[in-house]
Amino acid sequence: MTARGLDFAERRVLISAGPTFEDIDPVRFIGNRSSGKMGFAIAHAAARRGARVMLVAGPVSLPTPDDVQRIDVRSAAQMHAAVLGQLPADVYIGAAAVADYTPREPAAIKLKKRPGQDTLTLELVRTPDILAEVAAHAQRPRLVVGFAAETDRVAEYARGKLVAKKVDLIAANRVGVAGCGFESDDNALSVLWPDGGCELGPAPKGELADALLDVIARHWASR
Ligand code: CTP
Ligand code: CA
Repeated sequence: MTARGLDFAERRVLISAGPTFEDIDPVRFIGNRSSGKMGFAIAHAAARRGARVMLVAGPVSLPTPDDVQRIDVRSAAQMHAAVLGQLPADVYIGAAAVADYTPREPAAIKLKKRPGQDTLTLELVRTPDILAEVAAHAQRPRLVVGFAAETDRVAEYARGKLVAKKVDLIAANRVGVAGCGFESDDNALSVLWPDGGCELGPAPKGELADALLDVIARHWASR
């Protein structure tokens, strides 16, 4: 037990984590480089602090943390349905790297390349924005927390997402830099809210999860 004690006792915390896979045909998909480790670390830390945790996980190879309930999904559409189906909750933390686009119509049988066909064009359509929908929902959690994965202009883009999606907090991390972010055990986050922000880490994702929950707990108290 940490010094934080059971400060999330009785709170329902809903967390999405991991990537989503969007099927092109029965053997191929579009995915992204999320390991799910950050979302799973938050789920683990929240449960340890007394929360009732529901984790909606995309395709990852991670064990379910103790005392965490888990729903496994594959696609953005499935994640959308699972997350909205779990409302109401007290806190939503959207840590998943949701695919922004999905093939318009996955092929029922394996696509074959044809002689002379040197290029292939896939038609993709936008997926629902789960975070924005949760924030606009009739059963909006008291705190809605998003993530922002950026390679550049981190604070600017993240603040834009905070405003556009009407969330309470955005945890931004720089991805695509060696040793941090996707697939790594360490991470650093810039946490932003409408009239402030703070820097967390670099630190192992477990420590960062507790630090992010500290920020969430402070915001909970001030609402
Ligand atoms: N998100 C979501 N549903 C989507 C896309 C994103 O819920 N279809 C959530 C992510 O879980 C994250 C936040 O929105 O909490 C920001 O995701 P990110 O990919 O950084 O931003 P986008 O709004 O998708 O913008 P872009 O990828 O163009 O930077
Ligand atoms: Ca995106």
